[in-house]
Amino acid sequence: MSNTIYMTNMASYLPENVIYNDNLAKIVDTSDEWISSRTGIKQRHICGEDQDSSDLAVMAAKKLVDCGMDPENIDAIVVATTTSNRMPSAACRVQYEIGAKNAFAFDISAACSGFIYGTYVAKSFMSSSGSVKNVLLISSEAMSQFVDWSDRSTCVLFGDGSSAVLFQKSNVCGDNQGCTRLEVIDTMIKSMSDKNMYEAILIDCKKRNNHVLSSDGFGLEKQGDDIEIVLADGDVCTISSNNTFGSRNVLSNEFIVMNGNYVFKNAVDTMSKAINDILSANGLTINDVDWIVPHQANKRIIDAMCKFFDFNINKFVCTVDIHANTSAASIPLAIGHAIDNKFFKKGEVVVTVAFGAGFTYGASIMKVV
Ligand code: UT7
Repeated sequence: MSNTIYMTNMASYLPENVIYNDNLAKIVDTSDEWISSRTGIKQRHICGEDQDSSDLAVMAAKKLVDCGMDPENIDAIVVATTTSNRMPSAACRVQYEIGAKNAFAFDISAACSGFIYGTYVAKSFMSSSGSVKNVLLISSEAMSQFVDWSDRSTCVLFGDGSSAVLFQKSNVCGDNQGCTRLEVIDTMIKSMSDKNMYEAILIDCKKRNNHVLSSDGFGLEKQGDDIEIVLADGDVCTISSNNTFGSRNVLSNEFIVMNGNYVFKNAVDTMSKAINDILSANGLTINDVDWIVPHQANKRIIDAMCKFFDFNINKFVCTVDIHANTSAASIPLAIGHAIDNKFFKKGEVVVTVAFGAGFTYGASIMKVV
């Protein structure tokens, strides 16, 4: 039995609301100039009031199923998300929404490394079990529901989105009907938590419902008001006050808090090491790589890796300008962008690499076939 695993199809979903840097400059003390030059981010998609990460996951899954996959042939559904606010899992919700009645379904939480962790899990199931032939991996995040919209150091960084990827064994995937197909050569995942690393990017929801709301003159009219961001076309994007006002205690972390400089340095070093490790484990060097699809957190992190490897910057797939940091969804959204724009050619080697809260990290090598 062949154990070759392919990524045979994918579909992405981005919420309709697009928030530009200038929109954010109206609610916090920031500017397009600061955000663009420090992060490369120009815009981000933000969930509607009635959407959460499982809604985004369902949208991407339905788009993928509409491409022609019979849901009853799906053996496993894995949703990578750190922003789920439901029980049961988002994966179980996807299962019933698409009618994948023969699958088992569960979520994984590995923050920005979620897609690579999910790829590892999919490949492991498919390699070890003859009955698991088709795995649906959805990476879905509603980061906007976990940022404090009065904290300029974090609220400008994140966006929402989802991407559904179908992994299939070689003996079932057949003709790829014109879709770009990627063979998964190898995947490596790791985490390396100590107290500093664990607390470097943190959301601690147990404090979320206990805090004392306080009106503190952050330019927002009064507690209980929703934040309204007027979009370019005149529409209004409303963000619920539930994720607007925390206690202003800086130690409070009911919304995302991040030690940006510490994370930045670790992200560059760790992702560079992860690429070197997975390449050497497969007898390859950076010269064998055609494309790198890194986690999209900050263009300056990508530039630093590019310098480290002396790699062509145009061969780093970069979507942080249009998606911002969508955590687990960032790499598959970038892969989707590369496929849509026909970046990848047959025979090319694509390396993905991620780093995120935990710290978790991982890398994979894929080949365009
Ligand atoms: O996805 C998981 C992995 N996450 C990451 O990889 C993120 C890694 N970190 C980063 O990308 C960067 O550290 C940030 C983008 C978060 C911050 O950039 P930085 O160049 O490290 O800025 P900084 O935190 O050192 O802040 C510099 C200044 C500060 O002002 P002072 O103290 O120098 O007066 C901040 O208060 O910039 C200020 N600042 C802002 N100014 C305008 C912070 N946020 C903003 C803002 N607008 N939005």
